[in-house]
Amino acid sequence: MKKIQKKVFITRSSFPYGQELIKNSGLELVFHHGPAPITTEEIKEALKNFDYIISMLTDPFNKEVFEVKTKTRLIAQFAVGYNNIDLVAAKAQNIVVTNTPNVLSFSSAETAFMLMQAISRKLIPLEKTVKNNTFKGFDPYLNLGKDLRHKTLGIIGLGRIGQQLASFAKAFYDMKIVYYSRTSKDLPYTRLDLEELLKVSDVVSIHTDLNHSSKNLLNLEALSMMKDDAILINTSRGEVIDQAALLSLLLKGKFYGVGLDVTTPEPLEKDHPLKGFDRVLITPHIGSSTDQTRSDMGELCLLNILEFEKNNRALTAIRI
Ligand code: DGY
Repeated sequence: MKKIQKKVFITRSSFPYGQELIKNSGLELVFHHGPAPITTEEIKEALKNFDYIISMLTDPFNKEVFEVKTKTRLIAQFAVGYNNIDLVAAKAQNIVVTNTPNVLSFSSAETAFMLMQAISRKLIPLEKTVKNNTFKGFDPYLNLGKDLRHKTLGIIGLGRIGQQLASFAKAFYDMKIVYYSRTSKDLPYTRLDLEELLKVSDVVSIHTDLNHSSKNLLNLEALSMMKDDAILINTSRGEVIDQAALLSLLLKGKFYGVGLDVTTPEPLEKDHPLKGFDRVLITPHIGSSTDQTRSDMGELCLLNILEFEKNNRALTAIRI
């Protein structure tokens, strides 16, 4: 008798990863062909009709969508962050949710490190002077950047990505690493409370996930505690920073520079004031976007589904 083919719904129109894994697996990939991100109504349909779903961080898997009678057994989120998924509502429907930890730690930490370096050496504004012909030749006192060597790096959220960044900063600049985390880590870095970390750090880099307690964690009061010439980096989720507060402090001249790979919303509105600052470098949520990392993330989504098919367990299930 022919085995019934299980269907995996992908919330985007293509998914060029893990082709070899899918071959002969008994899984059929079905793609969403409308505009991205998928709507809540489309998510409800997918939950009613598909065994598995591969979701993106922009898909609103909120409480409401889980109110339908679901067929789905596992949602494999193509990201390490999962703030777009109501885990409690998914669990109530017996749906396992997985994410993609580890495989993206290097690229994500690299993005934070790259932003930190680009800001400290004023890379983007200085490159502009070459292209707009205002660079008039070498000058011993012009175009100076800020040293990172031996400075203090404050990491908010010392998970895998934060730890990877710490090791880059240590190896490259011998920075002093301080961190703010719910739990103490067995690492040669100093754990501080948030206020202390903000006060002593020359660079602050955010690596916490977005949840009720981290939303607007860096509000006006917290941001004001930072050194006036500090560098602030955010590669986690835009909502961890109170963006209006950040803007008001930037307008007052605070911060040496700010590097944002994430904003609220994404993309920012056409004429958003944050785009007007030379010392604010904004990248389009590229934390994990290298060819190898994305391929590894895609494979991990499929491996989770295959493992669940075979052994009724997932490799990287999110526990709540
Ligand atoms: C994630 O996986 O959550 C990142 O934001 C991707 O860059």
